[in-house]
Amino acid sequence: TYEKLWLVAAFLLIVGFIATITYGSVGLGIQMIDDSEETLSPDDINDDERFGEPRVEQVGENEYEAYVVAQTFIFQPDPIEIPANSRVTFYVTSRDVIHGFDVVGTNTNTMVIPGEVSKMTVEFDEPDEYGIVCNEYCGDFHHTMEGQLNVV
Ligand code: CUA
Repeated sequence: TYEKLWLVAAFLLIVGFIATITYGSVGLGIQMIDDSEETLSPDDINDDERFGEPRVEQVGENEYEAYVVAQTFIFQPDPIEIPANSRVTFYVTSRDVIHGFDVVGTNTNTMVIPGEVSKMTVEFDEPDEYGIVCNEYCGDFHHTMEGQLNVV
């Protein structure tokens, strides 16, 4: 009957919308493919050679590791520079209170907790510029806590 056809049509439309949204997020030039946590004493952060000097380091042909420190109200390094067509594992920790690390407009987003290292693996296809914002309230200037991620 026609009623049934309309139901099927409406259903297909909804499936189509969802597929478009999903494709849209995958179609961006940056895609988070893995995340996890490890523990780290806040006292050890400066002794840990990854975080004593926040930086991006090449570890393979197209593989990089980014050691990122959040603290009120900055991210280090800033900007974070990533080569295009690379796979980057981020290790992000906090020097003081809970922050967020949200690469705006992407699915790369994590809480940054003192005493923990948030680990995320992200693929970067194309050159682009992204803002980084803190999305956890961390004090009076939380709203100013921003960084920059440049895929070059
Ligand atoms: Cu850091 Cu909000």
